[in-house]
Amino acid sequence: MDGITILGTGEYVPDTTATNEMFAKFIDTSDEWITTRTGIKERKISSSTPNFMMGAQAGRQAVENAGLTPKDIDCIIVSTCTPDFFYPNTACLIQNVLGAQPCACIDVNTACTGFITALDLARSYLAMNVYKTILVMASERLTNQIDYEDRGSCILFGDGAGAVVVQKGENKLYYSHSGAEGDMLESLYCKVYYDKNNPFHKEDDFLKDKIDTPQKERYLQMDGRAVYKFAVDAMAGAVAKICADSGFSLDDIDLVVPHQANLRIIQAAIKKMNVDESKVYTNLETHGNTSSSCIPMCLAELDKAGRLKRGMRICLVGFGGGLTYGATIFEY
Ligand code: UT7
Repeated sequence: MDGITILGTGEYVPDTTATNEMFAKFIDTSDEWITTRTGIKERKISSSTPNFMMGAQAGRQAVENAGLTPKDIDCIIVSTCTPDFFYPNTACLIQNVLGAQPCACIDVNTACTGFITALDLARSYLAMNVYKTILVMASERLTNQIDYEDRGSCILFGDGAGAVVVQKGENKLYYSHSGAEGDMLESLYCKVYYDKNNPFHKEDDFLKDKIDTPQKERYLQMDGRAVYKFAVDAMAGAVAKICADSGFSLDDIDLVVPHQANLRIIQAAIKKMNVDESKVYTNLETHGNTSSSCIPMCLAELDKAGRLKRGMRICLVGFGGGLTYGATIFEY
């Protein structure tokens, strides 16, 4: 079996820090409520940098850390659910900034699960010898979609980008499992908005619903409790499935990097997985939930701290809008 080798990592952390105390000045909340319910103390917000520029900076760092140049990249795969454009896709925008032409450019969107999806896709391309060197990344400016009058959601999210450069890892283990529950779409969504300018659209079109979307519904909509319950079971279930398929137990895993949504979700999920808390990495205390960027930003932090060692077995696990979920176990 062939897996992946991560050659370099990178991240972009935005310029503005929003503390819990700052939120308490414009909504009815407190540092105590946010800390005890989520574990988040502060999050970083991009005040003026577009999503693709955040991604480009993370990507450039990953390519440099891999000891390569942008022209060495055969394919860029970007996970984002907060693009600046419908088209071109974010990967093309990033390719242009990096000067990585003419590599292939692909966007994926499984919301917060997206980096795991992107890594799976990259691994498949590498295993089939379609590409040799792939820049896999996530870039999210979720704060564009947040209603800052909705105290149930606005305190959770931050912005950022993370990236890894991967090549085929001969005889390295790689297992993954993903799924979705499309019937739970209303638990977490953000609708596309169109202007009323098309005389051919009928009153009963689904489009009408989108055109007439009330202002508030153009922001992220979330049923926090429903997502919470789903997340704990979905993350633990995906990891249990990989363990059953691979014959590994979580005792064989050195490091777990979960989606950074809520510390209580992570604690409940790892209890269900029966994994030692000391193996689990978090950064949500200072970054909040940066959607699909959480996991590659954690990997970049771990790399910077010298905590990623060759041969290590790493488990990534996440969930998100869809509702989607996914997990992977690979050898570093
Ligand atoms: O990437 C995936 C993105 N989404 C998620 O991961 C969301 C998962 N869900 C969660 O993280 C949690 O459900 C929340 C943090 C969103 C909410 O925590 P909770 O413990 O599930 O609280 P709740 O929604 O049941 O609300 C409890 C109370 C409510 O007041 P009442 O009705 O009991 O009077 C809320 O109005 O807390 C209130 N509340 C707040 N109070 C102070 C909700 N948000 C706030 C707030 N500050 N920011």
